[in-house]
Amino acid sequence: PREKNFDGTYLYQFNGVWYRHKFLYGMISTRRHFPARDSDIIVSTFPKSGTTWLKALTYAIVHRSRCAFEHSPLLTTNPHELVPFFEISYYLNKNDIPSFEHLYTPRIFGTHIPYSTLPDSIVNSNCRIVYICRNPLDQFISHWYFLLKQAHDKESETLSLEESFEKVCNGVLEAGPFWEHVLGYWKASLDNSHKILFLKYEDLKEDTHSYVKKLAEFLGCPFSNVEEKERVIEEIVKLCSFENMKDLEVNKPSRNIPGIKAKNSDFFRKGEVGDWTNHLTPSMSERLKILMEEKFSGSGLAFKLS
Ligand code: A3P
Repeated sequence: PREKNFDGTYLYQFNGVWYRHKFLYGMISTRRHFPARDSDIIVSTFPKSGTTWLKALTYAIVHRSRCAFEHSPLLTTNPHELVPFFEISYYLNKNDIPSFEHLYTPRIFGTHIPYSTLPDSIVNSNCRIVYICRNPLDQFISHWYFLLKQAHDKESETLSLEESFEKVCNGVLEAGPFWEHVLGYWKASLDNSHKILFLKYEDLKEDTHSYVKKLAEFLGCPFSNVEEKERVIEEIVKLCSFENMKDLEVNKPSRNIPGIKAKNSDFFRKGEVGDWTNHLTPSMSERLKILMEEKFSGSGLAFKLS
């Protein structure tokens, strides 16, 4: 089955999950061919939930000893290039298997693949997964603007906010239904807390410093020297902050990454919690809140909304 996405392109359903064409092709190929290494780190996310930010933070933490922060590759390269989505890499290579030779060890990859569909080599190896999601009201607004921007660039026929909202409530959005994706990683993280770290955008925003510390510990590279610890963490927080990253030359609208349709600047819009209050009517937000309560009931999972 296929359904219209917010930007007028199509989403395709596979095993109950909605994919954009590239990601579907790439997911199938990744499942067949991706040989995970025990040292690999997978940044897995629901789209528009802080992928760019978590990729940057993970890269900055893991590769911090490679060079001084003032020369960090994050200052001149977009996080999606330093931490590639393996779906996109497999899609772009078509019949060849990408070598990923250019990546430093530990290799860091991004993905939107649901937990239940991850390649066996990821689930069965010792590689670690960091997952981030975001309250579905902000996620929807962020997603809508993101696709709208690209649709304008291509002049394709877009869905209205109301039509797109209807799709979301029916689970029809990239990587959706939202609930299944989030609950899949949430439950897996409860069963396997040394393999999967489950994060929420709102928490990361509220106390980035503590989460950088937590991430480093989880990834097996804690900050050891007490004196240095706070300074280095602050450097990482600052380097990866929305304010810093959005103004970098590499993240200006004229730049983009091969294989990714969006411009680098499209990944940086507002970077706030609660922007949904400026866009959703009371009945829309109420509907999503009720759905959220129903779907997450008994799971122990909840989101801060502002
Ligand atoms: P908004 O559209 O609400 O501003 P993703 O990276 O998963 O595509 O998600 C994009 C969202 O994360 C956008 O949200 C974007 O502005 C926000 N974002 C990008 N970089 C960020 C950063 N360094 N810190 C906080 N938020 C960031």
